[in-house]
Amino acid sequence: MGKDVIIACDFPSKEKTLEFLSKFEGAHASVKPFVKIGMELFYAEGPDIVREIKARGHKIFLDLKLHDIPNTVKSAMKVLSSLDVDMVNVHAAGTSAMMKAALEGLTRPDGTRPKLIAVTQLTSTDDKALHEELLIDRLMTETVLSYAENARDSGLDGVVCSPHEAGFIHKALGANFLTVTPGVRFADGNNDDQKRVMTPAHAKEVGSDYIVVGRPITQASEPVEAYRRCVREFVD
Ligand code: C5P
Repeated sequence: MGKDVIIACDFPSKEKTLEFLSKFEGAHASVKPFVKIGMELFYAEGPDIVREIKARGHKIFLDLKLHDIPNTVKSAMKVLSSLDVDMVNVHAAGTSAMMKAALEGLTRPDGTRPKLIAVTQLTSTDDKALHEELLIDRLMTETVLSYAENARDSGLDGVVCSPHEAGFIHKALGANFLTVTPGVRFADGNNDDQKRVMTPAHAKEVGSDYIVVGRPITQASEPVEAYRRCVREFVD
């Protein structure tokens, strides 16, 4: 299974996104990074931004975190699959019925489909909110693992998780169940608002399959060099 670096393109507009991606063209013509498009950019620009970036030769993780009744998610996934993205996601909290419906919607007539991964508990949810608002009595790690198990048993390919969770998720659910991990920072960089970070090299050691890296690349003075450094540390 190929490890890869996914750049989180958290830009507010098509112009800013394409301006950023153009830095990888020209002298670096062979570099076509895997990119993540999130809600901000997708809601601002619509499906055309996906088509445009795909046409430029990038793989795309469309991070829209679907969570609705199974039938609605199935229909929405059918639309996303026709956009020819490479990876999409849902909230595991939508239940196994919803995750199975998502898979059905994603699967194209020829049997191919984008990878489908699940969000377990958002890393912005702390134990207090878990217990007092969501009324879940279990520990966060138990909850994350149980949601990840539901995702695997529903046929999903993996989960989005902290690199600090990648090891125990692989141990419990197998090496082939993908871990896609944000919260990555260079050893000599700043952490921004991320609390529990890991370097690309350490993420590789603990078994992350894909690292999702935003600001350390998008805000770097030399984004292409920062991307190459991630690849050197995580993939090579
Ligand atoms: O700029 P930075 O590297 O922190 O970006 C990380 C990306 O991963 C952002 O798009 C953020 O929304 C996303 N993400 C995250 N933590 C999660 C899930 C997604 O940082 N638990």
